[in-house]
Amino acid sequence: KVVQSISLLNQNFPRDDYTNVTEKIISHLGQNLHLQEGHPINIVTQRVLNYFYASFKNSRGNPQFSMYNNLCPIVTTAQNFDSLLIPTNHVSRSKSDCYYINQQHLLRAHMTSHQSELMKSGLDNFLMVGDVYRRDEIDRTHYPVFHQIDGVRLRSKNQLFPNDNDLDIFELGDYTENIGSQDKQACHTLEAVKLMEFELKSTLLGVAKSIFGEDFKYRWVDTYFPFTQPSWELEVFYEGMWMEVLGCGIMKQAILTNAGITNKVGWAFGLGVERISMCLYKIPDIRLFWSKDSGFLNQFKNQEVNAKITYRPISQYPQCINDISFWLPNDKEYCENDFYDLVRTIGGDRIEQVTLKDDFLHPKTGRRSHCYRIIYRHMERTLKQEEVNLIHKKIEKEAAKQLFVNIR
Ligand code: PHE
Repeated sequence: KVVQSISLLNQNFPRDDYTNVTEKIISHLGQNLHLQEGHPINIVTQRVLNYFYASFKNSRGNPQFSMYNNLCPIVTTAQNFDSLLIPTNHVSRSKSDCYYINQQHLLRAHMTSHQSELMKSGLDNFLMVGDVYRRDEIDRTHYPVFHQIDGVRLRSKNQLFPNDNDLDIFELGDYTENIGSQDKQACHTLEAVKLMEFELKSTLLGVAKSIFGEDFKYRWVDTYFPFTQPSWELEVFYEGMWMEVLGCGIMKQAILTNAGITNKVGWAFGLGVERISMCLYKIPDIRLFWSKDSGFLNQFKNQEVNAKITYRPISQYPQCINDISFWLPNDKEYCENDFYDLVRTIGGDRIEQVTLKDDFLHPKTGRRSHCYRIIYRHMERTLKQEEVNLIHKKIEKEAAKQLFVNIR
């Protein structure tokens, strides 16, 4: 009898009738766009982190928040749902919404999956970033894999009301059975909730302003999450429509209690990195984030984190890549920019990019050799390899003639 199992990130999982992950989805595991330096997902993450570092410092001037960026995307249903008080019959658990590996394991549907375990480890202020997986239609703004940044901040009575001993964070008495109202959980005092709400909303608006600048249109919308009460969404007005960029709220007290925390209240949020990045850089299609095309990636690479970048659409026609290697002249000066100009002159708009791939100094002869990668691509049509080869040959010939290099 064949035991069917799936191997993911070096772990083996038995299949069962819950299994619905596909090869295509699995191929996204471990790509870690949020860790890829110069990727727009990484840049936006860095900007959010910088805001928290600058805004929350302890008495020694050190950042209060720490960032967790390599939490495993394979989680248990206990992490993704139970730890967050999501009822067993809740729609978000269904096979049509999640990528299940088997009945017990799934690809996390939100970064909030890790909230409880990080609190149990003793953290009060933390951020988590990573890839999340949801079954959804595929269109310009939806993709089954995207990235979220979640954050949690826990506050004790003394931290919240340092100068006012009369104020408390909890109502007296036993409120375990009382669910409270739209405004607050029964166990919380109104003063604590109002102060927490204020800090939560001003922090998240601060993050948004540090990214979008001072003037953008936004609104807070009341909403519902099983793990926060009250709960809100922040919507930003972008290109004629309201776009939801984050969800947040006052954490359900039972989640803290279950994590062994009895003297604090908390706020939490989760924001969508692609959404923010698409608005910020005017990236028109969410699939572009997964592009390995240098025409996309190089628009963001090696830039200041706060650089103002507006994405320029790349051609949809395929690239042709040809390398060229030559020995630099011994007795004459060689200037890289001369070569770039020569390539542009000969190749015109069919040249998308030229990069120096290798700079080699021969240990014995002392001669220097350069290897360049030339990326050809036409904006309006598919280039034929023969056509590219002709241009490439001409570049070689002219470089030898004009720049006195020896083609290798
Ligand atoms: N997990 C929620 C989502 O994915 C976002 C959220 C996080 C809301 C934390 C409240 C608190 O939409």
